[in-house]
Amino acid sequence: MTATRVAVIGAGSVARRHVGVLGGLPGVAVVAIADPVAPAAEALAHECGAQPFTVAEQALDATEPDAVYICVPPFAHGAPEKAVLARGLAMFVEKPVAADLAVAEELAALVAEADVVTGTGYHWRCLDVLATARRMLEESPALLASGYWLDKRPPVAWWGRTDRSGGQVVEQLTHVLDLTRLLLGEAREVFAAGARRHLPAGEEDESDVDDVTAATLRLASGAVATLAATSLLEVKHRASLHTVSRGLVLELSETGLVVDDGASRVEHHPQEDPKVAVDREFIEAVRGEREGTRTSYDEAVRSHRLACAVAESARSGLPVRLVEGDLR
Ligand SMILES: NC(=O)c1ccc[n+]([C@@H]2O[C@H](COP(=O)([O-])OP(=O)(O)OC[C@H]3O[C@@H](n4cnc5c(N)ncnc54)[C@H](O)[C@@H]3O)[C@@H](O)[C@H]2O)c1
Repeated sequence: MTATRVAVIGAGSVARRHVGVLGGLPGVAVVAIADPVAPAAEALAHECGAQPFTVAEQALDATEPDAVYICVPPFAHGAPEKAVLARGLAMFVEKPVAADLAVAEELAALVAEADVVTGTGYHWRCLDVLATARRMLEESPALLASGYWLDKRPPVAWWGRTDRSGGQVVEQLTHVLDLTRLLLGEAREVFAAGARRHLPAGEEDESDVDDVTAATLRLASGAVATLAATSLLEVKHRASLHTVSRGLVLELSETGLVVDDGASRVEHHPQEDPKVAVDREFIEAVRGEREGTRTSYDEAVRSHRLACAVAESARSGLPVRLVEGDLR
């Protein structure tokens, strides 16, 4: 089998994770790592036998990959995608697809034109236990969902600035919003509020993102959802989505599914780590072994629109309606 050649743009923590997973898949060669910070590109390239570059376009032209992973922070999306799409290459983009909506919409139009294979970092979609959850929800649709992202603040410098990360809803809660869409359908209206902690005298914080957010979603199905996010903790407490149907509670997280029907509480553990499944699926789609991925760019942009609507409502204090055109 000819190896599938992969280039990676961005050499931070999530890039390292993908490089590790790709290295364990048969017939995949990571050939280029590009990052404007030369030591970062060199260190990761050294680990996987790839060539390091500081300019993404040079990496693509020198190594002619079949597929490209874009693992840059939210604010840096735009130029990397345009370079990949201009060359007609398959593209995997880490979530969120941008820090704001304008860049994401511009790229979504280019992706649709380019008609390339896409995958994104919404790997919760690749949890195999979701098939069980979906079957149960088809029989007994959920009327309520509660989603959580209760965590510490990530240690990267860009995270605390809205113009760099988009804020916690756009950057982290987006996984839970994506799962809400997948299991309960599209949202029609959102209302959210955020707050920041009072700093003790003498303590300074350059961050401008909310420390907590609470949101309510009204869904097209008639169901409602509540969501809570915080970055105030020392360690991650919970990232999950709970659904409530008649006589049935489902608790979904990255690590599995709990089914509570009142009579029993049964845990279902995934057979395959979704962080592995998401890369395996993308590579299979690049090779033409499967029709697309479950984490297409189009789906990612829909979830990003919802996250941006929640963030906008928290900013303005006003409800935001998602009209049919926004849902597409
Ligand atoms: N799906 C997941 O589970 C998951 C997990 C972690 C991070 N992420 C996402 O991945 C993205 C990156 O996160 P991270 O933790 O790796 O960040 P990071 O700060 O560790 O790494 C980002 C890297 O991108 C580089 N970079 C910045 N601009 C660039 C550009 N224009 N071209 C090339 N490289 C550029 C930086 O120099 C840095 O090395 C974030 O959006 C984050 O939300 C997703």
